[in-house]
Amino acid sequence: MIQFTVLTLFPEMFAPLQESILKRAQEAGLIKIQFVNFRDYATSKHRNVDDVPYGGGAGMLLKPEPIFAAIRDLPQPCGRRRVILMSPQGDVFRQEKAKEWSEQEELVFICGHYEGFDERIRELADEEVSIGDYVLTGGELAAMVMIDAVVRLIPGVLGEDTSAEEDSHSISLLEYPQYTRPANFEGRQVPEILLSGHHAMIKRWQRKESLRRTFLRRPDLINAFTFGADDYPLLEELILDHEEIAAWQARWKHLCPPPKRRRKSSHNPEGNQ
Ligand SMILES: C[S@@+](CC[C@H](N)C(=O)[O-])C[C@H]1O[C@@H](n2cnc3c(N)ncnc32)[C@H](O)[C@@H]1O
Repeated sequence: MIQFTVLTLFPEMFAPLQESILKRAQEAGLIKIQFVNFRDYATSKHRNVDDVPYGGGAGMLLKPEPIFAAIRDLPQPCGRRRVILMSPQGDVFRQEKAKEWSEQEELVFICGHYEGFDERIRELADEEVSIGDYVLTGGELAAMVMIDAVVRLIPGVLGEDTSAEEDSHSISLLEYPQYTRPANFEGRQVPEILLSGHHAMIKRWQRKESLRRTFLRRPDLINAFTFGADDYPLLEELILDHEEIAAWQARWKHLCPPPKRRRKSSHNPEGNQ
């Protein structure tokens, strides 16, 4: 079981986590999500959690005392705990990070708000993570995105364990196009191969379409991808459809299978092809 602890001023914002797959994961005891409102740790008369920045500047900053006190008050972790600060200045959250965190025992998310954090709060965190290069009003939506991405990787949360493995990004390629019934929708036909029942050919088609999608939509992912020997014919076919893919040819040339040698015979004493 993974324990998620969220430090936030707005626990009500997390209502979507009580729906659908995340709801079922909690009911099945695969995860536990708890919220700590760090305003409860403010000691001033008006329970202020923010204050003006030293040196001037717009907005209000979260004060260190309530967040330090809330973290110190967490029960001793029973296993591995990671404290994560929601921040547009952090590393961008990616699927590998979701996979890494799905193997932890406790994840603590600190959600900022207003103009951000007093710098000293950063030292509480093991890592600082962003959901993308844009600025949100608070860390709540970012934490929900991360929790959702982690939870669906926990064994038993999705119907079949394989369904997460085939998703886009789990193998650094985008997922191939998928179709369901009807086979013909207003003249738009599902590719014939998918109706053929020929599993090996379907797998080949899916791999080729995954490669095609990734080249055309996210060529940056191709840079980090290692092709397998079976990809060679697919890649050579893709070049015929999309000239631009040829720019990467050097990345898979080494996979070119050696020409087949013919066996020597009385008709062909040199064994030439
Ligand atoms: C308005 S933002 C503060 C931005 C801050 N002034 C800065 O430039 O880094 C308020 C809070 O929202 C959260 N936040 C905003 N954008 C985010 C992002 N892209 N990813 C994760 N958290 C984000 C952070 O917790 C942040 O402290």
